[in-house]
Amino acid sequence: MNPYETQKLRDEYLLFHFGTAAEVLPYPEGPAEALGFAVRTVTETLPQAPAARALDLGCAVGRSAFELSAFCESVTAIDFSGTFINAARELQSQGALDYLRLEEGAVSTPLVARLPATARPDRVQFETGDATDLRPDLGSFDIVHAANLICRLPEPAKLLKRLPNLVNQGGTLVITTPCTWLGEFTPPEHWPNGPTLQWLKESLAPAFTLTRSLNMPFLIRETARKFQWTVAEASVWTRCKS
Ligand SMILES: C[S@@+](CC[C@H](N)C(=O)[O-])C[C@H]1O[C@@H](n2cnc3c(N)ncnc32)[C@H](O)[C@@H]1O
Repeated sequence: MNPYETQKLRDEYLLFHFGTAAEVLPYPEGPAEALGFAVRTVTETLPQAPAARALDLGCAVGRSAFELSAFCESVTAIDFSGTFINAARELQSQGALDYLRLEEGAVSTPLVARLPATARPDRVQFETGDATDLRPDLGSFDIVHAANLICRLPEPAKLLKRLPNLVNQGGTLVITTPCTWLGEFTPPEHWPNGPTLQWLKESLAPAFTLTRSLNMPFLIRETARKFQWTVAEASVWTRCKS
């Protein structure tokens, strides 16, 4: 079964995207700078100047899409998981969503995910879809954001080939990836044969130039005492004018 369709990961991602600092990390010794990843992939990579259309690929339960909606007139947010898209849509319509934070074994705490005050839910369209087989009438965008998606795709090259048509000339592409290539998601013959950023540069040339790359730590809480601390490589690209 697709792990992203499970209630366990739905709830883990609701906490990851919408949990407060105290809800995610109650230990002063912990890596607080790794909190708020789904917010930071937008705020630390984009100028937040008014934009017309944004696309969030692999949007999960929707936090980055809601962040984009604060300064983009329209945000299309696509994920392969119907469970994640249903959760994002419920937050969009209700402004809040109940979920459980797993503490250990059979112990959970009920929590509520809430939309950020700056979100403009009326500007977001959530849909299920495959980032490597997007509908042909999707159009093009000023901003395309794909956080921690490429190393979860069976054939990431298919998305990289489509990107020049998805980003308007002069527009911005944000890709983050922890470069955790795993056979269960991507057959090894489709992994980059060198460092991921170099592979991205070669695959995206000549349509895109690399503007900036940065390390972006993130923290996923699995239980009260077990966390995944990971450092994503974020890269920001400009679609060249031809
Ligand atoms: C590691 S999560 C990252 C989610 C989110 N962008 C974030 O940074 O928290 C990967 C996401 O990609 C989605 N995904 C996996 N394969 C996909 C595909 N072929 N098309 C669209 N989304 C996909 C998963 O359902 C999941 O929500």
